[in-house]
Amino acid sequence: MKVTVVGAGNVGATCADVLAHREIANEIVLLDIKEGVAEGKALDIWQTAPINLYDSRTVGSTNDYSKTADSDVVVITSGLPRKPGMSRDDLIATNAGIVKTVTENVVKYSPNAIIIVVSNPLDVMTYCAYLNAKIDSKRVFGMAGVLDTARYRAFLATELNVSPKDIQAVLMGGHGDTMVPLPRYTTVAGIPVTELISEEKLNEIIERTKFGGGEIVKLLGTSAWYAPGAAAAQMVEAIVRDQKRIFPVCAWLDGEYGMKEIFLGVPVVLGKNGIEKIIELDLNDAEKALLEESAVAVKSVMAVLDTMNATNA
Ligand code: NAI
Ligand code: 2OP
Repeated sequence: MKVTVVGAGNVGATCADVLAHREIANEIVLLDIKEGVAEGKALDIWQTAPINLYDSRTVGSTNDYSKTADSDVVVITSGLPRKPGMSRDDLIATNAGIVKTVTENVVKYSPNAIIIVVSNPLDVMTYCAYLNAKIDSKRVFGMAGVLDTARYRAFLATELNVSPKDIQAVLMGGHGDTMVPLPRYTTVAGIPVTELISEEKLNEIIERTKFGGGEIVKLLGTSAWYAPGAAAAQMVEAIVRDQKRIFPVCAWLDGEYGMKEIFLGVPVVLGKNGIEKIIELDLNDAEKALLEESAVAVKSVMAVLDTMNATNA
């Protein structure tokens, strides 16, 4: 299997490292626009193979997409993080330009690839990739829910002092403050989480999860990369190994949850064909209201991209 990771920054390089180390793909191409960066990081990753005892080979490329040809999966992490003084619209404009060019190149050289978008603002960059890839929506989707759910599960594991392996959870909505963790669908080794934790504590954890990205930005001055890189790699694994894993994924909705023409985080089955099924949970009124609120927030940012595209047309 061949996997390309576009963007050899913090998230992209971490994702490539996990893909190699865990032998998720035997050929990994890391591509960046900055001269030599992808080659340097790929070489460094490859030199861990004799230490960590694996065969997967990682190679780098400075913007030469011919090296990515015939990739089975492509992960797009290229894009700037938000800087002081930049408006949300500035970030959309910059990253949409990057994601558009990258997607066009990806599809030109790997027309059958499944594309996973990581660049922010996630839901809208996934929409941008979808508009430019012009391929089935089951093959273009975004990574956010795996990360956000991992944060939620990690916080719960700390609070309950249990293994994070035993915590299962579903989280829906956009990758932002309006994301919707769902306590009703959170279990610890099959036990409903609400039987193990007070409502007050659970609400604190839900709030911390919603702002989990910001918590790390405050500490580091830039956004997270270990968990995001590993989360993207886990999605790649589900596809290349046809695992049929159930993950929350930023997916194009066409009537599911009563919504249309929107990219939003929902539980899906991921396998060799990409999104093989969108799972429709029977949400209660309160959960539905939160999901709708999140959809309104995502739609408003998608509208900014639509306006920019209309102006540039
Ligand atoms: P970074 O700044 O470390 O890396 C971004 C890389 O993209 C840089 O090496 C840059 O040279 C490259 N790049 C820029 N334009 C390019 C182009 N046209 N072609 C190829 N490469 C290009 O940033 P980091 O921390 O790796 O984050 C990457 C993106 O992922 C950001 O937009 C960030 O906000 C987002 N992110 C999303 C998460 C999610 O849950 N979806 C989680 C964490 C980060
Ligand atoms: C994160 O959640 C900022 O999207 C990035 O860490």
